[in-house]
Amino acid sequence: MSNRVEAITMDIVEAVRDVLRKHEVTFGEYRAGVGHMIKTQEAKELPLLIDVFLNSTIVEIENRNRKGSHAAIQGPYFREGAPHVEETLAIRDEDKDQPRMVLRGSVTDLNGRPVAGAVIDVWHSTPEGRYSGVHGDIPLEFYRGKITTDKDGRYEVRSIMPVPYQIPNQGPTGALLETYMNGHSWRPAHVHYWVHAEGYRDLISQAYFEGGKYIEDDCCNGGGKEFVVSEDYEDDLRVMKVDFKLDPAVAAAQAAE
Ligand SMILES: [Fe+2]
Repeated sequence: MSNRVEAITMDIVEAVRDVLRKHEVTFGEYRAGVGHMIKTQEAKELPLLIDVFLNSTIVEIENRNRKGSHAAIQGPYFREGAPHVEETLAIRDEDKDQPRMVLRGSVTDLNGRPVAGAVIDVWHSTPEGRYSGVHGDIPLEFYRGKITTDKDGRYEVRSIMPVPYQIPNQGPTGALLETYMNGHSWRPAHVHYWVHAEGYRDLISQAYFEGGKYIEDDCCNGGGKEFVVSEDYEDDLRVMKVDFKLDPAVAAAQAAE
């Protein structure tokens, strides 16, 4: 392990040195860069900064060993302890008139055989782009829940639609993205999924709404966009049909060897 740490650290240092040489970075620019890192550390935003740029790459590497559905970034807003739900996620009274959606689909193995009893954690934003149990005092049960697949591996649950939202942008990471890099801090509207099933590898995924803003320009890259669901309505419900294919757990064990 120590050799791996040494090898990776030195490769990072060499890669950064190459960039400094390529751009002929001055001492003043170097000091400004170090100063920005200090501000990022003081704002406790190092995890945010690193995740914005690099988390999706780790997911991409992990996906090389996956045969089923691809994984996406987990993001910082998953919380343990969401309630088990059946027909609908809990919707706040003030959101009752918001556009609605139904999440449905199936969980199967690599051969398309249904996986019954899989538990899927789903979570998504409020209509203001916030998350329960994270922002303000929104109780954890809203817009989060654990749903279970039936004997045919199918799941279905209703909710309101999430919206695009900005990652924390009031600190040094937001300044880097928006002011210094002429970019933005927006993510497209999405639903998070975490599929657990005994005997299979966990799958963390996200689904997006076709035609949604920022899908092609996601500030977090998102780790791929396998599930961009076409616009389809059933009465007033936007239908988000997402079918997951799970790798057997044994494949995960072999991949780690
Ligand atoms: Fe999210």
